[in-house]
Amino acid sequence: MTPSRIMARAIHISDVHAGRQDDRIVEEMLLDIARLEPDVVLAGGDFTQRSRRAEWSRAAGWMDSLDSPVFATPGNHDIPLFDFPRRIVSPFGRYSEWIGNDLEPELLLSGLRCLAVKTAAPERRADGAISRDSLALLGKRASRQTECDLTILLTHHPVAAHPDANPGKSARGSSEALDHAVTAEVDLLLSGHTHRRRSGPFVLDHGGRSMVVAHAGTACSTRQRGNEPQAWQTIDSQGERMVITPHIWDKAEFRFRTGPVTAWERSDSGWRESSAGA
Ligand SMILES: [Fe+2]
Repeated sequence: MTPSRIMARAIHISDVHAGRQDDRIVEEMLLDIARLEPDVVLAGGDFTQRSRRAEWSRAAGWMDSLDSPVFATPGNHDIPLFDFPRRIVSPFGRYSEWIGNDLEPELLLSGLRCLAVKTAAPERRADGAISRDSLALLGKRASRQTECDLTILLTHHPVAAHPDANPGKSARGSSEALDHAVTAEVDLLLSGHTHRRRSGPFVLDHGGRSMVVAHAGTACSTRQRGNEPQAWQTIDSQGERMVITPHIWDKAEFRFRTGPVTAWERSDSGWRESSAGA
């Protein structure tokens, strides 16, 4: 079979946790991303470990070193945990200073429509919550028809728990966010936070639409969960087809290796897994 033409490539990294990074893994990740030449890098929060200035400087340096545009939203670790005055008065002040003022951006580029919703919430410690304002913004964006090939919704906390997780957990407000995702004709939901990709992407049926959900591991930090190695993922949009490739750290070979590739096909009701890989 002739391989389909890649119309756009996105790379999803999450939970880089500057301050708890493995420098050798960071270096390999940045080299790999440069080699893969993505149209956009989707950075799903937890840029830092404790929102310290030195951590922000380091994380922002990584992002600045990328040749591709970075589309980002914050994670719970990007809010100061122990600095209570700052947590209350300016929870996202340093995120805005180092990464960008828009905490839940929208971007249309190379046929990709990227939407972000903020799930990090200062009133919660680690769990996620989507505010009324964020839901209203997503709803407004969802109702706007936009011509594109693939629509991606990026969050830090999952809005759809992985079926392997027991009990699974999603951000407060996820159900309403998913309703808006259906209206927006979202194809792919990307999240981090759990530092676990588990068995990989799956299909979520919600409101009559099937969407692909892909959880990311921690891209380059030592905060591993469930013995899962560091990982990030490439998404190749091929029109009515999409290929997701995980890049998983191999500590023996000292490099990222591509993991099990999954391919997905779109029909009128949404997406289903295709039998063939990339
Ligand atoms: Fe994290």
